[in-house]
Amino acid sequence: MNSASRTIYDFIRILLSAATNAALYGMEHPQVVRLSEQAFTSISLILETRPGITLLVIENELVIDGKPQELSLFLNRFTQILNSREIGSIRLLAGLSKPEIIALIGGLSRQSEDGAQTTPSSDHIRLGKVELRVQDSPEKTGATGSNKRKLTLPEMPHEESARFMEIYETVKKKHKLQINGVSDIVSSFIDVFRQEGKPLLAMAALRDKDEYTFTHSTNVCVLNLAQAMALGIEGQLLNDIGIAAMVHDIGKLFIPEEILMKPDKLTAEEFNIMRQHPVKGARHLLETSGVPRLAVIAAYEHHLKYNLSGYPHVSSDWQQNLCSHMTTISDFFDALRTKRTYRAPVPLKETAGMMLDMMGTDLHPALTRNFLRIITRLIKSPD
Ligand SMILES: [Fe+2]
Ligand SMILES: [Fe+2]
Repeated sequence: MNSASRTIYDFIRILLSAATNAALYGMEHPQVVRLSEQAFTSISLILETRPGITLLVIENELVIDGKPQELSLFLNRFTQILNSREIGSIRLLAGLSKPEIIALIGGLSRQSEDGAQTTPSSDHIRLGKVELRVQDSPEKTGATGSNKRKLTLPEMPHEESARFMEIYETVKKKHKLQINGVSDIVSSFIDVFRQEGKPLLAMAALRDKDEYTFTHSTNVCVLNLAQAMALGIEGQLLNDIGIAAMVHDIGKLFIPEEILMKPDKLTAEEFNIMRQHPVKGARHLLETSGVPRLAVIAAYEHHLKYNLSGYPHVSSDWQQNLCSHMTTISDFFDALRTKRTYRAPVPLKETAGMMLDMMGTDLHPALTRNFLRIITRLIKSPD
């Protein structure tokens, strides 16, 4: 365990102990007051060096800043408490005050009759519920605060497509990625998503063109955003997950076109070359300034399976990032939904069935269930 996660563990341990004591003795008890002070000091130290931290509960797993944690006794207890309060995510932002932490402790110590969430969000502590939010209205999800021009759905594919093509062309010619451009595209996707989540998703679920660059990257991006938003992920982490999707296959630009464009099945040798795209992509992203770390990791890991088979080869104790799991799911879905010269797109229902079968071996089970919940809505009402 590195020192950063040790500090976060310490904070959770103090928070948990404060909430447990508060449930027994009340908020005014000296022990609770002391632990609340400690929790505040501990989180303030963490937030001195970073803009925020995100804790997510996905079924019984606790995910801290995108990394699933091995559950120890107290993390397990913490996850149970969040589950029983129907809290799916906690985002703690720099600048949080002592009263906000005290309110959080108070909320965690209480439980309403029906087990529902009784802890309100505050300016620097955002609590999310794990639920589908793709259809929420913008008022419910909160304004984005972005003053960029908002694109409407019909004009977006054209305009964004042109920008993305340009970025890709530059990478091809000059081997230089303009990450700011990609980041802007993702922000406008998120804006559109907040207003028209469902049509945007429907666009990703139906594709009949065989261009792998823009269409594939944007589809994986939209699907990743849908997954992340359904889990209550917001802010920079949401952007980074979108950016990671946009550039996950960037390594393909370093694979000879005759292999990429080959209409028939690849030979073993060609396949070996093709399998280098995650490493080549990750290396390129690593050398590009301003690329979020998550994008490098997801490029490297997106062909790894849940059971760590796949490629590139990794050690048996490898911890795959949550964003990579999401990207693998979106990538797999989009690949099947694409028309190939040698096969028609696999129908939506059949794709969902295949993904169910692959849960636990190829795909992350809880994230696949989350994904299928989103997709099932589309199947039920494909308008
Ligand atoms: Fe790939
Ligand atoms: Fe891909």
